[in-house]
Amino acid sequence: MTASAAAPDPAWLPAEAFRALGSRRVLVAGTGSLVDTVHGEVASACAAFGGEAVRAAEPDGLAQACDLLLHVRPGQLGELGAEGFFLQRGDARTTVTAAAPHGLLHGLFHVVRLGEAAFAGERPRERHRPALGVRMLNHWDNVRVHPVMGQVERGYAGGSLFWRDGTARGDLDRVRAYGRLLAASGINALAVNNVNVHKEEARLLTGRLGEVADLADALRPFGIRTHLSVTFAAPVVLGGLPTADPLDEAVRAWWAETTARVYAAIPDFGGYVVKADSEGQPGPFAYGRSHADGANLLADALAPHGGTVHWRAFVYDHRQDWRDRTTDRARAAYDHFTPLDGEFAGNAVLQVKHGPVDFQVREPVSPLIGAMPGTRLAVEVQATQEYTGQQRHVCWLGPMWSEVLRFRPDGAAGVGGMADALVAVSNAGDDPYWTGHPLAQANLYTVGRLGWHPGADPHRILDEWIELTFTPERTGDPERLRAGLRAVLYGSWRTYEKYTAPLGVGFMVQPGHHYGPSVDGYEYSPWGTYHFADRDGVGVDRSRATGTGYAAQYAKPWAQLYESPRTCPDELLLFFHHVPYGHVLHSGKTVIQHIYDTHFEGVEEVEEARRVWASLADLVEPGRHARVAERYEEQLRSAREWRDHINSYFFRKSGVPDAHGRRIY
Ligand code: GCU
Repeated sequence: MTASAAAPDPAWLPAEAFRALGSRRVLVAGTGSLVDTVHGEVASACAAFGGEAVRAAEPDGLAQACDLLLHVRPGQLGELGAEGFFLQRGDARTTVTAAAPHGLLHGLFHVVRLGEAAFAGERPRERHRPALGVRMLNHWDNVRVHPVMGQVERGYAGGSLFWRDGTARGDLDRVRAYGRLLAASGINALAVNNVNVHKEEARLLTGRLGEVADLADALRPFGIRTHLSVTFAAPVVLGGLPTADPLDEAVRAWWAETTARVYAAIPDFGGYVVKADSEGQPGPFAYGRSHADGANLLADALAPHGGTVHWRAFVYDHRQDWRDRTTDRARAAYDHFTPLDGEFAGNAVLQVKHGPVDFQVREPVSPLIGAMPGTRLAVEVQATQEYTGQQRHVCWLGPMWSEVLRFRPDGAAGVGGMADALVAVSNAGDDPYWTGHPLAQANLYTVGRLGWHPGADPHRILDEWIELTFTPERTGDPERLRAGLRAVLYGSWRTYEKYTAPLGVGFMVQPGHHYGPSVDGYEYSPWGTYHFADRDGVGVDRSRATGTGYAAQYAKPWAQLYESPRTCPDELLLFFHHVPYGHVLHSGKTVIQHIYDTHFEGVEEVEEARRVWASLADLVEPGRHARVAERYEEQLRSAREWRDHINSYFFRKSGVPDAHGRRIY
């Protein structure tokens, strides 16, 4: 199907993906609106592929005659939770058993993913349950077009699905289609608006609440709870109170009443997301209160209704002086929050960016993760490709997120096991392909699936996405298509890293919009992101012994490992250390030769990916193929620009020639 404004791209749910299920006799048993959703999916698949959909409150005698039974058995809630399900196959029948309707919806999409394999042979009972209870998207959508940030802050996929030029779009069919895709990837929560809450957006909590309720109504049939980003100053800007002090009784009463009104309109409302005392947003510091005081104010208002506050830990001084070498932005979240461990309410979740700075292509895992055992944790990743090619470059982030989730902060427990939630800043918009770059859909899909199963091999998730989205078996050459898609996607994150900022140094981007190279763009800026390159060397000394002390924020074994350039992993060397250009990496190369080599290789890899993509023209829907091909032209142009800027910059600084005599300007 060709994507158009009227019919958005089916992404990973093309009709074809339902063939196996739709050509069978399927019994859906249970009651409730999510069971209705399951039945609706089955009925339309069967209408398309000649199967038969039967609906019943109880399976009873009907089950014998069906190929697939999807049913709810409330008794198993303890073992399955609300979202889990059992899958088994025997006596020529596949059975999905859930303890609650939400689990049945996930079970249905699991059967879709399996395709024909769901109906082959015997299958002993498997239990499927999400590891993280909340898999959430944060939309950075504005209601009004922001003069600098536009309709969607850091959005690279057209406009917002929810608002246009200050008014609700009201295109709820599109929102429903979006919710359906998200449900099939495992997402179960969505915050509809930007964490930077401007004046008009603040009113979503009160005067414009109906718009949020409409979105919640559209997302509810897919098991997605709606959340709202709110401003900490709401009692002042909306309530007319003289203060937003979290310990003030009138402020507490205002939040309690306002929140009760939200629940009257949206009974299953998920809760609030808050960016406080960060990049100009108001917060508790103004009243001499702590972030635990701030978070607990909202947690207390939400608690009677079963809601949660996601309180962001992205708190740092964005008015630094580059001459001051004692302040280190990377330290900030840990320094602010660890003293508060144990003080946050049970329904407050600290939402921590996966790295200590800001979604760079390579950062260590934030030392705050794992450092607050008495506080609930959400790990925040960025699907929108702010620093990773802005959806003009192919950069599949699955391997990066997987590394974060598998990281073991204290050498024992993994991040994926200690978090309550995985949150991704959304990369979707009103673009017909949802994500601007059609291959960026893979990031959206992967994040939901990793939240379900953080230990999964991300490549298997990508393969799943390939099978669903491109249905290779229905093309003339399934193996060539699969191999081609893997070739352009599997290594794309490392390719991007190669031609951009080297060895974990980060932020060599154009200030403001963050696209394209500018090595010194942030070098003397108040935002606190530096590389300290001079004629002798490059990198930030964050060691305990001679640097900012950041390395000491980690537990063992990481604090020791990162402390010394001898043991620090190559890919993070310049994040933790300032070293001479002649420093020899574990790879055996000098830092300067590594910079040259990776930048040449990165461009060659993009050239090769573009060639592979071109070779798939006969196997991919033409509109989609053309859109990707067009973006490869820009990616290649940009990669060459990056290569030449970075190589020339470091050649001129260091005076060290390339060992292979390649052209450096
Ligand atoms: C980055 C991004 C901002 C965003 C901020 C955040 O700094 O550039 O646009 O508001 O992160 O996560 O709050």
